[in-house]
Amino acid sequence: MSTNQDKIKELIKLREQAKLGGGEKRIEAQHKKGKFTARERLDMLLDEGSFEEFDMFVSHRCIDFGLEKESYLADGVVTGYGTIDGRLVYVFSQDFTVFGGSLSEMFAAKICKVMDMAMKVGAPLIGINDSGGARIQEGVKSLGGYAEIFQRNIMASGVIPQISAIFGPCAGGAVYSPALTDFIMMTKDTSYMFVTGPKVVKTVTGEDVTQEQLGGASVHATKSGVAHFVAENEEEGILILRKLLSYLPQNNLEEAPIIPCTDPIDRLDDALNEIIPDNTNKPYDVLDVIHSIVDNAEFLQVHRDYAPNIVVGFARFNGVSVGMVANQPKYMAGVLDINSSRKAARFVRFCDAFNIPIVTLVDVPGFLPGTAQEYGGIIIHGAKLLFAYGEATVPKITIILRKAYGGAYDVMSSKHLRGDINYSWPSGEIAVMGPKGAIEVLLSRELSNIDDEKAKVALLIEKEQEYREKFANPFVAAKFGYIDDVIEPRATRFRIIRALQALATKKDVNPPKKHSNLPL
Ligand code: HXC
Repeated sequence: MSTNQDKIKELIKLREQAKLGGGEKRIEAQHKKGKFTARERLDMLLDEGSFEEFDMFVSHRCIDFGLEKESYLADGVVTGYGTIDGRLVYVFSQDFTVFGGSLSEMFAAKICKVMDMAMKVGAPLIGINDSGGARIQEGVKSLGGYAEIFQRNIMASGVIPQISAIFGPCAGGAVYSPALTDFIMMTKDTSYMFVTGPKVVKTVTGEDVTQEQLGGASVHATKSGVAHFVAENEEEGILILRKLLSYLPQNNLEEAPIIPCTDPIDRLDDALNEIIPDNTNKPYDVLDVIHSIVDNAEFLQVHRDYAPNIVVGFARFNGVSVGMVANQPKYMAGVLDINSSRKAARFVRFCDAFNIPIVTLVDVPGFLPGTAQEYGGIIIHGAKLLFAYGEATVPKITIILRKAYGGAYDVMSSKHLRGDINYSWPSGEIAVMGPKGAIEVLLSRELSNIDDEKAKVALLIEKEQEYREKFANPFVAAKFGYIDDVIEPRATRFRIIRALQALATKKDVNPPKKHSNLPL
């Protein structure tokens, strides 16, 4: 009969066995690909010694295709909870060394358990994906497992932050769990995501495409917008995940943590008084404005390389976490198009769901004209951003830096969409459209009656000047109270901090409804 000492030894042995996943050889193969193992990743992600593992002794129940003879403790996914900067998070980390990290019935059940726990206690969920998809031998049990996870992703959406790291393959229907979460992080060269792989693509469409071209990190960071963050390697990816979490509350009923701030709240920056070029068609970098006004110039950009004509990301003012949204005049003059509208709408909705105030910097010449945009549905996609701002009940502070033309004026957190505090710099231009376009419309009949080209140009210049003086300033809007004040650029940081303090107790509600019908 075995003694208690024997039983403890057996436990230690089993633990060691589980920690080896699919065995030394496969761990070596994983390292050779420049990838860490599931457990190494959790060690890097979580505060040292904080990880508590669940279900280490789970194994699969499949008896088909030889699986009755092959099984591994933990069954290919490491799950549990731990802390990041002392704050509780639930985690799962798929183990590629066990059946290629493929998802079985029990694998899914383990993930569902941590998802349920995260929801019960109101803590964020971070999933690390590295998997060959559905475990082929388990058939429909695996598909059912995925759907159980999807359902939980949906229920958790807007309740707890859900973050996905893709550190290897993520293919087929498996992509839809990350897609249902709030943020996706991918690593360069070692991760890929696609609904159908290169072989199927070749068969169906005849296209020759590599995994990287089809669904590598750079594709999803620049073309599809699926990836919110791209890291050079897993270590950098983990650092970004930890940083991202620092800006977020634990759940939708809490506020983000306030980080003690060493950056003076009344710091003025004279450079801001000079940043807007006198020629209104000249660009500048709105990131310079953001870095100048936020605490310690720290800004975590989301979707950095996707639709760069709008910038979104997290920063702090006097330690308070905010979501920044800013038109970027450096790219396409900061125009709103389909991609930038979708990008900003999703970000605004995330911030609103998680009680993060939104600070909007406006310099937008309008919506991008053209058939490509109209056929692509700019009407519907632009409406998403409009909807997101109008629906948001968190504190909303808007600073018009320069142009706020046409529908884009309305959309970009205007007073009329329940903007709380709306300021403009003296360089603000708020009107139905830019001077050139406006005058060409207004004078079209008059101009067609003038034969002399010189006279035409002279009239255009004169009228444009008149229009500019009348409308291309912030005071017409200020006269109607659409702008609360015209502020000196160098004092922007201080004015935003004051506004955030004044709005800290804001309560605003939307009418009761099952849910809204966001234009999709
Ligand atoms: C069972 C799998 C597996 C899977 C990989 N393995 N994928 N086992 N089910 N889906 C096993 C392999 O047999 C191998 O076992 C080990 O994992 C490593 O796989 P390799 O192929 O040697 O690795 P690599 O060359 O790096 O290629 C990785 C891969 C490839 C590209 C992911 O394995 C692959 O194409 N797998 C199949 C992908 C797939 O079609 N999945 C189903 C998608 S449909 P050994 O014993 O040799 O270590 C889907 C539906 C979900 O997921 C629907 C949800 C709604």
